[in-house]
Parts: sequence; structure tokens; C-alpha cells
Amino acid sequence: MHPIAIAPSLLSADFAHMADECADVARGGADFLHVDVMDGRFVPNLTLGAPVVASLKKATTLDLDCHLMVEEPDHLLDDFAKAGARWLSVHLEACRHLHRTVQRIRALGMAPGVALNPHSSFAALEPILPFVDFVLVMSVNPGFGGQAFIEPVLDKVRQIDAWRKRHKSGLFIQIDGGITATTIGAARQAGVDWFVAGSAVFGQPDRAAAIALLRTAAERPGLQST
Ligand code: DX5
Ligand code: ZN
Repeated sequence: MHPIAIAPSLLSADFAHMADECADVARGGADFLHVDVMDGRFVPNLTLGAPVVASLKKATTLDLDCHLMVEEPDHLLDDFAKAGARWLSVHLEACRHLHRTVQRIRALGMAPGVALNPHSSFAALEPILPFVDFVLVMSVNPGFGGQAFIEPVLDKVRQIDAWRKRHKSGLFIQIDGGITATTIGAARQAGVDWFVAGSAVFGQPDRAAAIALLRTAAERPGLQST
């Protein structure tokens, strides 16, 4: 099992004070930053693009993990590489030629990941696993912060974890959506390494305390009642 990483999602940050928000979670012990890119088509919300990522890159020393919730993301890949994204995930459901897209992300010098919606199956994911560095398992329907955790996606996490053990793969498993002190332990127990947390970090006044709480709670197996 990889050590855990906490990645605050900027979607829940104050967009008018991004540099300060990044500095606050960097001081508070964040491992890297999760950046949600939405196009208003793949998901019913619109956020930010590569120019904002380029500005964030100058404003923080933390690595940027960009989650593209966009249809046919191929035309954006070069821009995100130039903007300084380290990790880049594209949705399984949004790519017609997923393998080609993943190869292109790697050729551009970024670490490729594949994201999948709660309804998408392990069977659809399996053929691409040898070619990616990480899988992003959505535990809410993408588009918005602050939604409730969909627990049955943990079955998929267990399948991915079993696959990587079987294949002696160093693949990372990331989970995104509804991660709180209540849900993080069950996700860790299922095999998750990287935890994206939006409202559970940026929605709290003390971000260092919020990150520390998630780290502690991750060590407690199962869903917690508080
Ligand atoms: C939702 C985004 C998430 C979002 C998570 O589509 O992909 O990264 O910020 O927010 P919380 O942690 O509040 O569920
Ligand atoms: Zn996300």
C-alpha cells in the first residue's frame, strides 16, 4: 500500500484569493492540489482552464493534479502541459480513443490518470490500467462539491486494488467526492492512496486542523458515525 496523500480540491476554495488559499493548505500539510476543470458539457458546471492553472503554478510550490471533466479533452492536453500540470486525469466516459489520449499525456511529460464516474464498471477500466499512473474513482457524480459519498464505489476500489496486487503494479488509487472524517477510513481500508477533499478542507476555517483530522481518520477502518 502506498502512503496516503491529501489533495485539497480548489473547487471549494475562494476563487478571488487563490494564491492565499494555496498557501494556506500548503502550510497546513497538503500533499498536492486538485484542480477541477469543467466544461459545462461533460458536467453541468463550468470552472477554469489552462490559463488559471498557469497562474496557480506560479503561485504555489505544490504539484497540480488536474481533473478534466470535459468532453473530448484531446485539444486541451498541450495547454495543460505548458501550464505546468504534473498529474492529469481524463474521464473514461469522455474519450473516444482513451489509449491514444493517455499516451499523449505521457508524451507531454505529465503523469496520466483515468477518472471514472460512479456508474462505470471495473470491466470498462481494466484494459487501460497498464498504461496509466493512477485511477481517479469518483465517489459522487462529478460537477459539484459538497455532495454525499456513494459508498458502493468502494467495491470498484477493491477490484482495482486486487488488480494492482495481481500485476505487481505501482498504480495509485485516488478517490474524489464526499471525502470527510466519516468516509475516509472506509476508503483507505478499501485501498485508496490519494484523497481529494474539497469542502472537508476549504469549507473549514482551520485548514491545517482539517487536513490533520482527515489523516487521523484515514487510519480508522470503516465508515465512522461522527
Ligand atoms: C466534483 C469534483 C471534486 C469536488 C469534491 O466533481 O471532482 O473534486 O471538489 O468536493 P467534495 O470533497 O466537497 O465532495
Ligand atoms: Zn475532482
